[in-house]
Amino acid sequence: MVRTMDQPRTRLVSWISAFVCVALTFSGAVVAKARVAELADGGMVATRSSWASQVGADILSQGGNAVDAAVAVGFAMAVTYPSAGNLGGGGFMVIHLADGTVITNDHREKAPSAASRDMFLDENGDVIKELSLHSHLAAGVPGSVAGLLDVLEKHGTMTRAQIIQPAIDLAAKGIVLDRDMAEGFARRAEAFAKYPASAAVFTHDGKLYQIGDRWVQKDLAATLRRIKDKGRAGFYQGKTADLLVAEMQRGGGLISHQDLLDYRSVWREPIRGTYRGYEIISMPPPSSGGVLLVQMLNMLEAHDLAAMGYGSAQAIHTMIEAERRAYADRAQHLGDMDFYPVPIQQLIDKKYAKARFADFDPAKAGKSEDIESGQLAPESMETTHASVMDAQGNAVSYTTTLNLSYGSKIVVSGAGFLLNNEMDDFSAKENTANYYGVIGRQANAIEPGKRMLSSMTPTIVLKDGVPMLVTGSPGGSTIITTTMQVILNVIDHQMSLSDAVSSPRFHHQWVPDRVLVEPFALSPDTRKVLEAKGHKQLLDLGTRFSLGDANSVLRTDRGFEGMADPRNAGTAMGVFKSAP
Ligand code: GLY
Repeated sequence: MVRTMDQPRTRLVSWISAFVCVALTFSGAVVAKARVAELADGGMVATRSSWASQVGADILSQGGNAVDAAVAVGFAMAVTYPSAGNLGGGGFMVIHLADGTVITNDHREKAPSAASRDMFLDENGDVIKELSLHSHLAAGVPGSVAGLLDVLEKHGTMTRAQIIQPAIDLAAKGIVLDRDMAEGFARRAEAFAKYPASAAVFTHDGKLYQIGDRWVQKDLAATLRRIKDKGRAGFYQGKTADLLVAEMQRGGGLISHQDLLDYRSVWREPIRGTYRGYEIISMPPPSSGGVLLVQMLNMLEAHDLAAMGYGSAQAIHTMIEAERRAYADRAQHLGDMDFYPVPIQQLIDKKYAKARFADFDPAKAGKSEDIESGQLAPESMETTHASVMDAQGNAVSYTTTLNLSYGSKIVVSGAGFLLNNEMDDFSAKENTANYYGVIGRQANAIEPGKRMLSSMTPTIVLKDGVPMLVTGSPGGSTIITTTMQVILNVIDHQMSLSDAVSSPRFHHQWVPDRVLVEPFALSPDTRKVLEAKGHKQLLDLGTRFSLGDANSVLRTDRGFEGMADPRNAGTAMGVFKSAP
C-alpha cells in the first residue's frame, strides 16, 4: 500500500490523509504538502515531483525493487519535472543491491564527435557564454535513456513496458499544473518563445499556463512509446534520432546520427570511503562529487564536529577550509577519467587528506588564489535528486540533469523533450569560471566524445554493510557540500532526517573565495567569530536562492524515513508491507 507524505499525528489520521492525498493526486487537484519526514516499513521514494514519487511508490507496491522504482521515477520525472527530469540530458545512479553488490551507472552526456576544445571561444580567445548555455551547441549527446534502460535490464525485475507506461500516461493524459510548475514555465516564457517547439510545449497557444490547467505532452508521450516499444533504438535511432538530428541541423548544433548510435552508458566502480565507521558509496568521475565528498570527509574526520556543535563557528570554519582545499583539487585534477588520468586513489586516501589539511589553522581562514570572481548565478541550478530504498535491502541514489533549469530551453521539435546545456560544465577555457563559478583546466577541457565534469553526488551511506542513508542533491557546484552537510548532520549531529535535510546550509568552493550562506545558517555571534577568523565574504542568499534539494531516505529502527527537501516542492512516499 502506498502512503503519501502528509505526516499523520495518529495512525487513523495517517490513513485518512493518505487516502485524501492519493485521491487528490489522481483527480489532478493540487496536493498540499507537509514538511516532515514520511515513515513506512515497505520502502520509500523521495523525489522533487509528487507524480514521480507516486510512480515510484506504485512500482514498489506492485512488487518492483528499488531499481525498478528509480528507473520508473527517472522516466516519470522527464514528464512531470521538465526543468531537470529528462530524456535529453544525463545522470548518475549509485546502486546498492541486497546481496551487497555496489555499482554505479554513468549516463552523463558526451561532447559530440565534432566538438573541439575552443568551440566556445571568440576570435580573441574569450568565452562566448551564450553559446555554451543557450544554443544548440550547448547540448551534449544525451545519456539518460541509455542509462535508465541499461540499469533496468541489468538490475531491475519488471518489464520496460511496466516501467515506462506510467510516464506515458502522465504525458498523454496530462497533469494538472500546480503553482511550482506553472510559475516555472512563466519565469522562462521569454526563453521558450525563441523556439517554436519550446513555446508549443510550455505555453498554451502562446498564453501562459495557469495553476490548475491540464498539461498534456503528446509528442513526449509518442517518444516514450517508441522507447517502450524499441528500447534504446526508440531514442538513439529511427524517428526520435531523426527529429533530434534535424533539430541540430536547424539550430547549428553538432549531435549527429553516429553520435547517438555510439552513445553507451558506462558501469563504473563507485568511489568508496569511510567516515567514523560508516561506509560512503558515491559517484566516480566524470563526477567530481564522490571524490570530493570522500576527500572532505577524510579531512574532517580528525576534527570532532559533534563536540564543536552544529552551526558553531569552529565547525563551520573547519568545514569551509576542507571545502576550500578539495575544490582547489577539483579544478586541477578532476575530469573524465576515460580521457584524463584522474589521481582518484590519492585524492581519496586518508593520508593525503591529512597532508592536505596539515596547514589548516583553527584560528584563521585560508586564502584562495584570486583567479576568477564568479557572479551569483541569476538562474536556479536545476538538476534533481531522487532516493529510493526497498524492504529487500536494495537502495538507489539517482541524480539527473539538463544542467540549468530546463537546460538549453530548446525542445526537440516533434519529439517533445528538452535538450541539455551540459557543454557548459566543460572548462571552455583554462581557469575561466563556468556558470557555477568553478574553474577547470586540461582535465576538463572539451574533447570529442568526452564527458564533461559534474558535481552530481548521488550517495549511499552504509552502516554495518547495510544501506542507512540515501542522499544527494541538485545545485551545480554546491551539490557536493549540500550532500556532505546532510551526511554530517546525520552522523555527527545525530539529527533526525527532517532536521538533517531542512537545516540551513552554507557553501564554499575555493574560488570565488566567498561563503554562500542560507538564512539562519549563521547566528550573529557565529558570523562575528567567522569574520574575526578572516572569512570576509559571507554572502547571504536571502530568499533569492537556496542551497540544494536533498530528497533523502534514512533507514531507522522504526522503518524507512523519507524526506523531501522543504526548500522545494518534492514529495516522499512510503510503501507498507501490509496495511497497518
Ligand atoms: N550540471 C551540473 C553538474 O552536473 O554538476
